[in-house]
Amino acid sequence: MNIKTICCIGAGYVGGPTMAVIAQKCPHIKVTIVDINESRIAAWNSSDLSKLPIFEPGLDKIVEEARGRNLFFSTNIDKAIDEADMIFISVNTPTKTYGKGKGMAADLKYIELCARQIAKVSKQNKIVVEKSTLPVRTASAIKNILENTGNGVRFQILSNPEFLAEGTAVEDLLSPDRVLIGGDSSEEGKKAVQVLVDIYTNWVPKERILTTNIWSSELSKLTANAFLAQRVSSINAMSELCEKSGADVNEVSKAIGMDSRIGSKFLKASVGFGGSCFQKDILNLVYIAKTYGLEEVADYWEQVILMNEHQKQRFSDRIVSTLYNTVSGKKITFFGWAFKKDTNDTRESAAIKVADNLLSEQANIAVFDPKVVEERIYADLEHLNSRNPEENRTLLKVENDPYEASKESHAIAVLTEWDAFKTYDWKRIYNNMNKPAFIFDGRGILDIKALQKIGFVCYKIGSGS
Ligand code: NAD
Ligand code: UDX
Repeated sequence: MNIKTICCIGAGYVGGPTMAVIAQKCPHIKVTIVDINESRIAAWNSSDLSKLPIFEPGLDKIVEEARGRNLFFSTNIDKAIDEADMIFISVNTPTKTYGKGKGMAADLKYIELCARQIAKVSKQNKIVVEKSTLPVRTASAIKNILENTGNGVRFQILSNPEFLAEGTAVEDLLSPDRVLIGGDSSEEGKKAVQVLVDIYTNWVPKERILTTNIWSSELSKLTANAFLAQRVSSINAMSELCEKSGADVNEVSKAIGMDSRIGSKFLKASVGFGGSCFQKDILNLVYIAKTYGLEEVADYWEQVILMNEHQKQRFSDRIVSTLYNTVSGKKITFFGWAFKKDTNDTRESAAIKVADNLLSEQANIAVFDPKVVEERIYADLEHLNSRNPEENRTLLKVENDPYEASKESHAIAVLTEWDAFKTYDWKRIYNNMNKPAFIFDGRGILDIKALQKIGFVCYKIGSGS
């Protein structure tokens, strides 16, 4: 089978960049990304490339090249499904907020809706690809829905989880460590796998394309995220021990990372991991383990989440205790709100929890983030439901200039590791702050010695200072 048209359902952080790269690398394939969110599609179609709904370095250039040529964004979902030879499902799979598995299991309602819509609209055989991160064995549910429509259309289901990280999505997509494709072992299944392999070989070396059975592929995605998050929680656990013992977590991290069995990546202590994936996927893994009655397995992975919650809590506690046990009425400036640098995504960002804790202590907060818009910040707080929206808006102000944000502030808390923060005029910031002026570096990115020379009182995560 020669793929001429692809449809991707879900124009989010994964669907958008992934399909833009496929379209760029496969000009012979027409790629249409569809979404129910009209304003998101309108933003993807915006002639002003700075208005794309997702900020990712390098993405604007790729969209500019492919959009209108063989890359299209649309809200006409039925038409795109009908025309497509291959359909990627890239919709969100958040943690369930209701019913059985509430707070743990992945909510698959959007996936099921997609499957039903594909089943309803399709008139010819299609390959359906799970791009979303899904619990192991979801493919069989999708297959069931697709095959019980009675219109004789045959579907092949593949699992092709996405490993891109936000902030480096384009780089990760252009040069992935591996592409994973899981499929059925039947002849038809193998053919479908090969069709997807052929798409990726347009730019990915063959040896980096791994094919497995479908359950291994689904489970590998949850496993990869659990292992990565576990490294962050492990180093964060050590960061607390470092603070007590006089060790410096950056030095410990470097020393252990040089052991090739451990490796140097993902060993940066922080105020806690955020993002839309780690927490959700580990909770899902814990839920799956529990479902199979594997209590010890569930407890083991749950600890990664508990450690992360503890790290956020202890960071805000540290701010309060350092500021003489009260932050009531004091201005605290946040540098960064996104869950990591080079993205405008704030989902599960540590900043949200830290802000919520400090607002509960009646602090006044000023937030500066280079890419996150004001409404997103208020929406993140409102989502927690800790206080009424007016109170959030009174106590927390969003600023678009770091110097303005830090004026008359008692303390600066660094919540995101944006590179720009390192190059600020810290003397100017210091001069305009209340004294003593404190810095709480939750990302370990600032030159603490230089800041101490200026006069700042500094706390850096995982070190005695
Ligand atoms: P997202 O929320 O940014 O995007 C999902 C999009 O799907 C939304 O725009 C939503 O409107 C749309 N949608 C939902 N139901 C729909 C329907 N029935 N029809 C059409 N559109 C629909 O989510 P995301 O971050 O892109 O994540 C998507 C999936 O990819 C999730 O399963 C996630 O776990 C996985 N994933 C995410 C990342 C990441 O870094 N964000 C990385 C790898 C995998
Ligand atoms: C993650 C996975 O890395 C990616 O492979 C998967 O496809 C989606 O989930 P993402 O959440 O976009 O990607 O970002 P990632 O770089 O993994 O960072 C997650 C969080 O961990 C961020 O808050 C980051 O700041 C934090 N982190 C990461 C640390 O605190 N220390 C580290 O050493 C690395």
